[in-house]
Amino acid sequence: MNFEKNILCIGAGYVGGPTMSMIADKCPQYKVTIVDINEEKIKAWQTDDLPIYEPGLLEVVKRARGRNLFFSTEILASIKEADIIFVSVNTPTKTFGEGAGKASDLQYIEKTARMILEASDSDKIIVEKSTLPVRTAEALERVLNSNDRGIRFEIVSNPEFLAEGTAVRDLENPDRVLIGSRETKSGRKARKEVGDIYRNWIPKKRVLESNIWSSELSKLTANAFLAQRISSINSLSAICEATGADVREVARNIGTDTRIGDKFLNASVGFGGSCFKKDILNLVYISETLGLKEVAEYWEQVIKMNDYQEVRFVKNMLKNMFNTLAGKKIALFGFAFKADTGDTRETPAYYISKMLLEENANLVITDPKAIPNAKIDLEPVVSAYTADKMLSFEEDPYKAAYDADAIAIVTEWNDFKVLDYKKIFDSMRKPAYLFDGRNILNHKELFDIGFEVYPLGSSPLTKYS
Ligand code: NAD
Ligand code: UDX
Repeated sequence: MNFEKNILCIGAGYVGGPTMSMIADKCPQYKVTIVDINEEKIKAWQTDDLPIYEPGLLEVVKRARGRNLFFSTEILASIKEADIIFVSVNTPTKTFGEGAGKASDLQYIEKTARMILEASDSDKIIVEKSTLPVRTAEALERVLNSNDRGIRFEIVSNPEFLAEGTAVRDLENPDRVLIGSRETKSGRKARKEVGDIYRNWIPKKRVLESNIWSSELSKLTANAFLAQRISSINSLSAICEATGADVREVARNIGTDTRIGDKFLNASVGFGGSCFKKDILNLVYISETLGLKEVAEYWEQVIKMNDYQEVRFVKNMLKNMFNTLAGKKIALFGFAFKADTGDTRETPAYYISKMLLEENANLVITDPKAIPNAKIDLEPVVSAYTADKMLSFEEDPYKAAYDADAIAIVTEWNDFKVLDYKKIFDSMRKPAYLFDGRNILNHKELFDIGFEVYPLGSSPLTKYS
């Protein structure tokens, strides 16, 4: 079959996989190929057991796979035949050298650019889908257009705004798609061509065009603003606990002001995920390198508040359980960084688990999708801190809570909202504590059952204090 365009995506992860599957599903006239260096991942994308858990994604993949959607490890050959290449490789925080702990590690991006350069024998549009520091396009241009074969690469920035757990919905019906390019004739032409892909199913007015630096910076800014809201409400949760105010009421009371809005005001154990912390640290690093010390300090505070919230949650458990957790069985309900994903990158649950294990608690972790990742994440912690059998994993929340001293709700899975808490209470040691780090349960009902209930950001419901 003759396709109108050959689209390639390098990087078959949480962004590349869903984003390109949606394009293939909506645009049968294009051939969409997704490549990755990770063979196992590519194999998994070819089965019904996809490498990531994302509600509704399998249906999207199945509609297009084999028709106009292909997964491959043939990176160089796929580059050669592509007209448009989306680069969706990982850009983690640098762990070594200059900027360690803050700057973006761009080694995967640079390697990708060099592969593109090596394999190309015709002009191409290169789309930055990964989240990148502002002015990365300039560096990419320098690498790619250094060729002496007369091949011209046009760099376009098209940051991705999907959230995990709702990726399919976000891709099908996004608030906006952002496309930035150089303000040159060829830059604007490339940006239109990339925009046309999305205009197949997204209303024209939601496809925003801008200059390339604004586009790169807007992605970091969006994540910084979202994370800042969570840190803001979390800072208030501490004041609420100390004063008798209720953070859910405060959130409602301010969120009804249309200038503030009601989204992203759920106080929690802290934000996690692969993006917020990494992107804010990147913003901090950029500000520092620009000599903007006050700006760097301003954004760094959002991360400090998040760390504080995680520590505060564990300290609250400790304080209310007679200042010792040693040998006590704690059932951690949830390890994923949010509901509806198995992703555990930067999950607050990791830091909370580590602190509980350091207190010699006997930790049992239950999660509908994240146990395999939790086991990998906690492996080094277990060898460093714990005596044997102090950490275990249990798929069934009832078994996890059996004989436990406390339950700590860390992820807002719907599965945890519909459990029989009377049955759970009856099987626990007494007093039975419940720390709701997501405020997803009916605290009054739990108290009536007999639990000592510690919501986040409001007064505890307890018989003893
Ligand atoms: P990921 O780790 O899930 O996927 C990245 C993939 O790129 C991996 O499978 C890796 O094997 C592959 N890769 C790395 N180098 C490669 C190379 N040279 N050739 C081929 N494949 C290569 O990462 P992700 O979560 O999909 O994030 C990708 C980018 O998108 C990051 O910049 C991230 O900040 C951004 N982003 C992520 C999200 C999210 O929700 N996860 C949302 C928006 C933006
Ligand atoms: C985020 C951005 O939302 C998305 O636009 C971007 O493309 C990638 O980063 P993601 O990290 O997948 O998406 O999930 P998100 O829904 O933003 O949640 C991030 C973290 O904040 C989670 O740990 C979540 O539980 C927490 N959160 C979110 C809160 O604690 N309170 C809230 O009100 C909202």
